[in-house]
This record gives sequence, structure tokens and C-alpha cells, in this order.
Amino acid sequence: MKLELHYQTPIEWAEQAYEGIDDFLQDHADSERKVSNLCLSIITKYPNRHEIIDELTQIAVEELLHFKQVFDIMQKRNLTLRSNFKQDQYIKQLSEIVREDSDGRFMDRLILASIAEMRGSERFGLLGQVATDPQIAKFYKNLHIQEMEHIDSFIKMAKIYFPEKSVNDRVKQILEKEAEVTASLPWRPALH
Ligand SMILES: [Fe+2]
Ligand SMILES: [Fe+2]
Repeated sequence: MKLELHYQTPIEWAEQAYEGIDDFLQDHADSERKVSNLCLSIITKYPNRHEIIDELTQIAVEELLHFKQVFDIMQKRNLTLRSNFKQDQYIKQLSEIVREDSDGRFMDRLILASIAEMRGSERFGLLGQVATDPQIAKFYKNLHIQEMEHIDSFIKMAKIYFPEKSVNDRVKQILEKEAEVTASLPWRPALH
């Protein structure tokens, strides 16, 4: 099954985001830490699902490294980290689709993680195209490729525990919801 976003971000989004690149970097630093935290929280909540601990740990480390790379760029620009995570409407609205029962919740969180990686990869790629600062352009072009690899990882994890068809059906539903949410949110210098 080929995974594709149902809403394509226009390049104008990236042009606008790049105008607020300092704010964007601060939001991006938060996002990387949040994904790393998410991987660790899945391990904490489902400690018996041994098959995915290696991969979750690896992604948690990679996201933390991305955080460090964003932070390095921020430091060169004399930017500080925000003391509080700002609420992300994208994540908040998408979380409404997550089912309450333990298995449903587990599957949905993995699928949501995969789709959020897809959106991140798409937007980093666009930013890489419009950034005029060569260091930032290179950074986002690389991230576009690296985050793409995480998309399949989360779906593969879900398929270890659930039938392929039920995962694919759920992916379709969540992709629709994601497109609706993304299209409805106002643009700001942030990942979502
Ligand atoms: Fe990342
Ligand atoms: Fe990622």
C-alpha cells in the first residue's frame, strides 16, 4: 500500500514559514523532542511488546539528534528554547481520532506517528526548496529524507501486532482526517 498525504501543502506555505524562520526553528525543536518522547512513552505503556523496542529506541535517538541539530542552528542565531511546549492544534485535533481501548489506542498512535512523519517530511522538503540560507536549506533537505524513513517504520510496527488489512483501513481513515485538519489550520511559522 502506497502511503500518500491527501492534502498537499502549497509551496507558498514554505515561503511564509521561512519568513518567520526563527519562530519556525523554535517550534521545530519542540516537535523533535515530542516525537522522541512519544517513542519512549510507547515503550513505557506497552513494555511487553518487545519486538518494537529496538526500533522505537532507535527513532527516539534519531529524533533527539535532530533536536540537537536544530538547537545548534538556534544557538548560532542566538535563539533560546521555549520553556513550555506550545499546544499544537494539529496534534490536538488529530488525537481526537485515537480510540480508547488499549489495542486501538496502540495502533492509532503508531499510525498517527507515521502520518505526522509524512507531513513533517513533506514540509521540511518544501522548506529546503525555499530557504536562502545554504546551511538551513541543506539541513531541511536532509531531514526531508531522514523523516521519510520513519514513515514506514511506524506502520511496520503496527503490522507486527495487527492484520495488514485492519492497519491499512485505519491508515486510510486517519489520512482523511489528517488532510481535513491540515487544510483547516491557519498558516504560521511552525511545522503545523
Ligand atoms: Fe525528526
Ligand atoms: Fe522522524
